[in-house]
Amino acid sequence: MKKLLVMAGMGLMFSASASAVAETLDGRAIFDKNCSVCHSINPPPKLAPPIIPLASRFHIQFKSKTDGVNHIAAYLKLPNKKNAIDQQAVARFGLMPAMKLPDKELRAVAGWVWDQYNPATSRGRGFGGQGRMNSN
Ligand code: HEC
Repeated sequence: MKKLLVMAGMGLMFSASASAVAETLDGRAIFDKNCSVCHSINPPPKLAPPIIPLASRFHIQFKSKTDGVNHIAAYLKLPNKKNAIDQQAVARFGLMPAMKLPDKELRAVAGWVWDQYNPATSRGRGFGGQGRMNSN
């Protein structure tokens, strides 16, 4: 049921205009607007580690979504090598710039990042993401 709802949501986002979506604090819309220039959802990477593999690391590292979202939101505000979960990415791509977004938006997009990995199936949830990101 939850999955169905999410899929319905994705469908809506494909048809809604980008600005209308951004106002609803939809994590995916915030990502498309502020993050997708550097981050792909699925490999291969653009200028930064792809989101699904990153999300899987967070699921290993943090016990709860709250802990994971707290980390991601804080990191987006002030990226630093010491706190990065993915040290290899820092070495490979350099540090990401701080995101100057309201806390609400940082948490919304952080929650979306967390949700891109589904531990039950060990698979990403980026349905629709692949083709879309590659065509960006
Ligand atoms: C200018 C390019 C750029 C933009 C824009 C950008 N990132 Fe990043 N991001 C990076 C790079 C490079 C890394 C890897 C180095 C690092 O961790 O700082 C990274 C790392 C990350 C990490 C891993 C943090 C960790 O603990 O290791 C997350 C999560 C993340 N980005 C999410 C986002 C989100 C969400 C947005 C949009 C709100 C965003 N990024 C925007 C370049 C970018």
